[in-house]
Amino acid sequence: MSLLDAATAVRENAYVPYSRFKVGAALRATSGAVHVGCNVENVAYPEGTCAEAGAIAAMIAAGDTRIAEIFVIADSPTPVTPCGGCRQKIAEFADPSVRVTMCTTDGLSQTVTVADLLPGAFANSHMDRT
Ligand code: THU
Repeated sequence: MSLLDAATAVRENAYVPYSRFKVGAALRATSGAVHVGCNVENVAYPEGTCAEAGAIAAMIAAGDTRIAEIFVIADSPTPVTPCGGCRQKIAEFADPSVRVTMCTTDGLSQTVTVADLLPGAFANSHMDRT
């Protein structure tokens, strides 16, 4: 199954009673395995957990640690872009050159790199003097 198909399928499982905005994410780890996530909201924190964060959690739980490629899809007018927190989470587990493809359910897509999404990312090297 392609990452686009996997992200499209898992999006249907999104739990979004507050925003009604379903998001699906699928990533291929460097092992070759595909991990998926959808957004899951709750009444106390209506923004809930993003689809990308869900896919990353599934990757870690499965024993993979590095992202080779990631897709995200939503029913939005323009390709949905990961929120700030998810950009940092993706950057934790992906090289700056890794491709991030953002899609709409009606077929628009845009591919950027992790470095494009989070230029000047905070990194371990910033703590070199500690
Ligand atoms: N959301 C994601 O899951 N991924 C994104 O890249 C952007 C936003 C979710 C969080 C929340 O459930 C809903 O979309 C609206 O913020």
